[in-house]
Amino acid sequence: MKIRITEVGPRDGLQNIRVPIPTEAKVRMVDILSESGVEEIEVSSFVSPKWVPQLADAEEVFSRIRRKEGVVYSALVPNMKGLERALSAGVDKVAVFTAASETFNVKNTNATIEESIRRFVPVVREAKGSGLMVRGYVSTAFHCYFEGRISPQKVLDVVNRLFDIGVDEVSLGDTIGRAVPEDVRRLLDVVLKHYPAEKVVLHFHDTYGTGIANVWTAYSEFGINRFDSSAGGLGGCPFVPGASGNVATEDVVFLFEQSGVETGVNIHRVVEGAGVIVEYTDGCVRLQSHISRVIERGRL
Ligand code: HMG
Ligand code: MG
Repeated sequence: MKIRITEVGPRDGLQNIRVPIPTEAKVRMVDILSESGVEEIEVSSFVSPKWVPQLADAEEVFSRIRRKEGVVYSALVPNMKGLERALSAGVDKVAVFTAASETFNVKNTNATIEESIRRFVPVVREAKGSGLMVRGYVSTAFHCYFEGRISPQKVLDVVNRLFDIGVDEVSLGDTIGRAVPEDVRRLLDVVLKHYPAEKVVLHFHDTYGTGIANVWTAYSEFGINRFDSSAGGLGGCPFVPGASGNVATEDVVFLFEQSGVETGVNIHRVVEGAGVIVEYTDGCVRLQSHISRVIERGRL
């Protein structure tokens, strides 16, 4: 079974970097990642620029990237305004996002879970009417910084609501990167009783170094083959303390390819895409040293 990767670095990766990244660098990063073999690239977010100034140039990024045939270029939208912007920019797919923790959802979107889902009803209808695919994110699907452990039943309730309003797939997010394989088992045991594995994507952050173990558990024990990951392990949500990078795309590709499972992704292109960001992060020593290590590994 081939692994299908959504590269979220240009969105999840760049939304959490404090230094400004020029539009030109974002475009270069996406263009390199387009040549890597990933099936989908989450390019940016059409959210309020007051909330996420790092991605305020979403339109410009979309207008300047070189689109490669066969690659799906997607973006986050929180409301109708975001959808209108996304449609004018010519996105292929949009993602609405809510959470399984009320506290996190209010901090992230200024809305309760129910309010956010009600907001999505016209968004999903219009997006589908315009021929777009729609993803629904459920953040804090395992643990929440504010509310602690989240019950799988609570996640299933939100997943049900998202499929009821017409999303094509859900992505279950370990927003603060705290899940371990046993958490993955507990959640997938419940969700996969109701939905086929093809409808479920997993989105691991890697705060405690368990991201790769979680990916392998989901694949080898539950047949999940769709994962979100970020070139260079960039990433994190600005609205929760301690949310670090996504599981790195190059690590996911290495894991599967070395285990004889096809990803179709060229690890060198992924590392090159991440490397673009280094040039623009003078003073951001942690990020630079991480990416330098990644580039070094890419050369091996
Ligand atoms: P609000 O302040 O309640 O909304 O924000 P509002 O409707 O009152 O709007 C406030 C201002 O923003 C207004 O401007 C609106 O026009 C403008 P003003 O009148 O003050 O000049 N505005 C917009 N502008 C451009 N595009 C828009 C838009 N919407 C409103 N779409 C809102 C509510 C949802 C908009 C806000 O909370 C927001 O944008 N949140 C985004 C948060 C975010 O992007 N978080 C990170 C992504 S989620 C994540 O990282 C998790 C994930 O990776 C999975 C995981 O790891 O678990 C996906
Ligand atoms: Mg994320």
